Amino acid sequence: MEPDLALLATLGNTSVVGLQWGDEGKGKVVDLLAEQFDFAVRWNGGSNAGHSVTVGSKRYAFHLIPSGILRPQCVSVLANGVVIDPIQLLQEMDQLAQQGIAMGENLRISSAAHVVLPYHKRQDSLSESRLADKKIGTTARGIGPCYADKATRSNAIRMGDLLDEARFKEKLQRIVEEKNHLLAGLYGDVPLEWSPIFEQYRACAQQLRPHVCNTVQLLHEAMAAGKRIMFEGANAILLDLDHGTYPFVTSSNCGTGLSAGTGVPGSAVKSVLGIVKAYNSRVGAGPFPTEQDNATGEKIRQRGREFGTTTGRPRRCGWLDLVALRYSTRVTGATALCVMLLDVLSGFDELKVCTAYRLAGKTTDWFEADASQLASAEPIYETLPGWHEPLDAVHKVADLPANARRYLDKIAAFVGVPVRIVSIGPARHQTLVQ
Ligand code: IMO
Ligand code: MG
Repeated sequence: MEPDLALLATLGNTSVVGLQWGDEGKGKVVDLLAEQFDFAVRWNGGSNAGHSVTVGSKRYAFHLIPSGILRPQCVSVLANGVVIDPIQLLQEMDQLAQQGIAMGENLRISSAAHVVLPYHKRQDSLSESRLADKKIGTTARGIGPCYADKATRSNAIRMGDLLDEARFKEKLQRIVEEKNHLLAGLYGDVPLEWSPIFEQYRACAQQLRPHVCNTVQLLHEAMAAGKRIMFEGANAILLDLDHGTYPFVTSSNCGTGLSAGTGVPGSAVKSVLGIVKAYNSRVGAGPFPTEQDNATGEKIRQRGREFGTTTGRPRRCGWLDLVALRYSTRVTGATALCVMLLDVLSGFDELKVCTAYRLAGKTTDWFEADASQLASAEPIYETLPGWHEPLDAVHKVADLPANARRYLDKIAAFVGVPVRIVSIGPARHQTLVQ
């Protein structure tokens, strides 16, 4: 039996945001909620995101397409704020089609979304190699260079340009020439040829053409017709370009960019679900005050299968950081929490949660997002009793072990926002709603 989420949907248009450094389980929540909504709209990021969703014995992998695509009545939208790698997108569409997921009118792509091209991926990898031990640890999907070109304007290609062959050709020729100066001069790399790129991407454009439209119009007309919309922020608020642990962040507004990335005003969103793991994890570089680079971290990694969906990298794991979580809740405006992967914490005698930091000789409970400051924050922990019972067969929050409930109560009380959903395993039915 699937959990009853109808109540959440009655709240109105909802957004789903990650409250940590990504991989919180947004894909599972979007999949569950999609049954209640007419649209699932992604507003940012690109194929740096990675979710896997389990339905029965099937496992689906997502990078660009919202997991809402699994629900036939739900239209999935890649809005203008997303950066689209057409090759990756078509591969994902093929893979889903092979798994029996039909894709027609139920996938809409903004003509104003920017296109990730091969030189973006090259630039991403070359820049990281050059930074050596100062690198950000990106996913090498070309995300940063694509958003940089978007901001520069003269060097950008949007989905609409891709569909206009003459315009695409003219722009691509000019941009590749300029990129070659950069690739050769700065990185000593071999130059790219524009024409094979043109041929390959022209073919992609033909396949994607039926899905491309003005998604701002689409969404406003949908709202006027009383349709229910769910918005999905890819990545997570601590990776947000403005409010994350800069510079160890991604290049979009993951927790705060809904309006810019969709053309729908924030006032149209009635509820914000903040997705949080019962512990913390991070892939890539950057400060992580509660990291456990030891047997505890290893135990969490193994139990939580904490290896990246996009890059396969082992994720860094550690105790739940409540100082960071309260900050994330405030900045995103989360109105309720979904605590994911609680089952991973079964089997610890004691669990620690960080409730303050020692920073520059003072105790503080405010999260300092600037990476150079956060790097010297020492966590101050509170210890809570653990539990040993497995949780995967529990049906109600009230049936969780008392110490698991105490752990959830601590989170809600510290952050000041209720816990509405608790996930105790990957399956749809392993979801408790309260
Ligand atoms: P989902 O949607 C975890 C991290 C990368 C790197 C930094 C910058 O699956 O939760 P980028 O390639 O974006 O320039 O890399 O951001 N990162 C993520 N980590 N989950 C994600 O997305 C991420 N998207 C980006 O590891 O540290
Ligand atoms: Mg992921």
